Amino acid sequence: MRLYSFYLRYVSPLRSNTVIFRWLFGFYPAKALWGQYWDWTTLALRSVLRRYLKPDMALLDMGCGPYAVLSRFAHRKLNCSAITGADHCQELIDYARQTDPESGIAYVCSDLFDSISGRFALIVFNAPYIEAGRGEQKGLFPTSLTRKRFCGGKEGVQTIARFLQDAPSYLQPGGKVLLGVNHYHIGREAVRSEIFRSGLRTVATLTNPLTKACVYVLMEKGNAEM
Ligand SMILES: C[S@@+](CC[C@H](N)C(=O)[O-])C[C@H]1O[C@@H](n2cnc3c(N)ncnc32)[C@H](O)[C@@H]1O
Repeated sequence: MRLYSFYLRYVSPLRSNTVIFRWLFGFYPAKALWGQYWDWTTLALRSVLRRYLKPDMALLDMGCGPYAVLSRFAHRKLNCSAITGADHCQELIDYARQTDPESGIAYVCSDLFDSISGRFALIVFNAPYIEAGRGEQKGLFPTSLTRKRFCGGKEGVQTIARFLQDAPSYLQPGGKVLLGVNHYHIGREAVRSEIFRSGLRTVATLTNPLTKACVYVLMEKGNAEM
């Protein structure tokens, strides 16, 4: 408990700090009108994007959020030009669009793939993975918007399961899904069994033992890694 209080007091505020943001992502973010800029999974995905994203690839940043951190990092630091950022919260995608008039990133309001067209070489998703009951109990969803943003439903995997079912239809041949979660909040078995049930298979897993953030690198079953 003491450790958690220490975390809330000293570590958590770092996630709203613009100078630290600049140091991590290489550019200054928009005003923090919608809470903290990033979480530990965002950071893990940032490292994995560095490894897998090439400038000529088409990228879909599912659940880009109001600051579109990963989309903008891909544009500004990895020179990617074909980027779609999607989120199902209208107000968040509106803020992302308003605060980024020049990058050429296409911001789309979409419940997962409902309003997405085309296929992508990389689909990145820092998914909502907080289990509904646990989140309520810990007061992690103070408003309906925070619930919509961060609640992963039963066992934390409901949105992830839907995402994994549909993602293969939006991948280019040889394309990859980068699914980010935090195993402090969601069990490994729950995530692995949804991957197993989907048309995707795991080609790499990158975990930060300290923060418990984990990225699953996935490809279509039957597709050889390139
Ligand atoms: C954990 S946050 C990640 C935000 C940002 N991408 C990042 O890495 O910091 C999850 C995001 O996914 C969005 N989201 C949740 N469910 C979604 C759905 N069904 N369709 C599209 N976006 C969704 C939320 O609104 C939220 O912005």
